[in-house]
Amino acid sequence: MKKNKMVTLTIDSRKLQAEEGLMILDVARDNNIYIPSLCTNEAVEPYGACRLCLVEITTARGRERLVTSCLYPVEEGLTVKTNSERIASVRKVLIQLLMARCPDSEVIQDLAKRLGVETTPFPLEDKNKNKKCILCALCARVCQEVVGVSAISLVNRGVNRQLATPFFEPSEACIGCGSCVYVCPTHAIAMEDTGDKREVRWPHSQMEFKLRKCKVCGSYWIPERQIEHIAQVSGTSPDDYDVCFSCRE
Ligand code: SF4
Ligand code: FES
Repeated sequence: MKKNKMVTLTIDSRKLQAEEGLMILDVARDNNIYIPSLCTNEAVEPYGACRLCLVEITTARGRERLVTSCLYPVEEGLTVKTNSERIASVRKVLIQLLMARCPDSEVIQDLAKRLGVETTPFPLEDKNKNKKCILCALCARVCQEVVGVSAISLVNRGVNRQLATPFFEPSEACIGCGSCVYVCPTHAIAMEDTGDKREVRWPHSQMEFKLRKCKVCGSYWIPERQIEHIAQVSGTSPDDYDVCFSCRE
């Protein structure tokens, strides 16, 4: 595969070489430079939801501005400050808003501590809302872009924005694979397997799935709906999944 050309840029006074087109956040990570971020995952395209990855840039032509580093590609002569006073004060407000929105989230509390922020001046989210979801849509993007089923999405607008299944009803499309659970940065989605049942609880909806039993070891290992989906996209038979992956090895 053809490689993009290399560019030279500076991040926090460090002169670096990086492939043109890579995002600032990825280049910083590759060089062990910390930029806080919550809403990225290499499985999906960046989306710019949490804004925590803001950095201050100066282009080769001398233009200065704040950009989200997960969405801004590196270019020749770029200078990036990841922790200037201006950035620190904007980031402080962003994390304080998240602290108020997600008072139950340990991830947010830990991140706030790391950024030197202990309290929020904003009113805490009311009790009947899910208090861990930052509305980053990472779960919905993975569901759509990777799993290919679009079972969950962000619904409503403004303060009523919520992550849920369509109409808050059990989703016909959901296969119970749990990909959303694994990618959620704040552990706002729960998944529990009990006997032959799997329960997935999103911030504002929940569903149950029947699990298939492995014919060899007897453990319940995969939702029937996920088998149907895999069989359909791979052109195999649902009966091919009677034995779990561990027992096949
Ligand atoms: S449930 Fe998690 S991944 Fe989904 S929008 Fe909320 S914080 Fe993001
Ligand atoms: S990581 Fe860039 S906006 Fe969330």
